[in-house]
Amino acid sequence: MLTKEEIIEKTATHVKELLSGEGSGHDWWHILRVWNNAKTIAASEEVDLFIVELTALLHDIGDHKFHNGDETVGPRMAAEWLTSLQVKDEAISHISTIIKELSFKGAGTTSEMSTLEGRVVQDADRLDAIGAIGIARTFAFGGHKNREMYNPEVEPEYHTSFETYKKSTGPTINHFYEKLLLLKDRMHTQSAKQLAEQRHRYMEAYLEQFFAEWNGER
Ligand code: ADP
Ligand code: NI
Repeated sequence: MLTKEEIIEKTATHVKELLSGEGSGHDWWHILRVWNNAKTIAASEEVDLFIVELTALLHDIGDHKFHNGDETVGPRMAAEWLTSLQVKDEAISHISTIIKELSFKGAGTTSEMSTLEGRVVQDADRLDAIGAIGIARTFAFGGHKNREMYNPEVEPEYHTSFETYKKSTGPTINHFYEKLLLLKDRMHTQSAKQLAEQRHRYMEAYLEQFFAEWNGER
């Protein structure tokens, strides 16, 4: 039997191998930042840290965006990996449930997290979607998908279902209005809410500058 520390360490090595060099902002360094965010947030919450850390590490290994929209791949890949390390069934099912619930599903949808461990990991993941890093990841993703950076003729959409959100191909700037600027008010934990404030203001200032330059005003 491996210790919890050994399981976490082996998982980190495994995920680093799988996701290194990924070019859309879902690479190993995203995972490392989410892992760190999760530990910071968890320090002020009564959670099972083993579950939080493993979920943070495994949350993007089979993302639906890279498996033709199939949302079952991620939880399944995580469960297979954890089974191979002989992690208890109860922990595996908790972790795969969180991974299933985690994704942002559109501005007009709700995504209930059934446990506090899930809320901590979702906050940690969402912190990495906003602020300076969030801006960089969003343009990296847009470039990866060959999207226009901005097109004033295409309005942002308020997606009311995961299906339409997944299919959206709008310009990258629209994603700020369709997701990034909404995240601050959807944080669960006190510490993430606090961290999100400053990152949110930074994005607002960025957009103001972006549009001023776009219009030749600055
Ligand atoms: P979540 O982890 O909340 O499910 P995603 O994996 O869908 O979020 O997205 C993670 C990051 O990838 C986003 O925060 C954004 O930076 C980028 N991204 C995802 N979809 C888009 C898009 N349509 N346009 C630009 N960036 C996107
Ligand atoms: Ni993520």
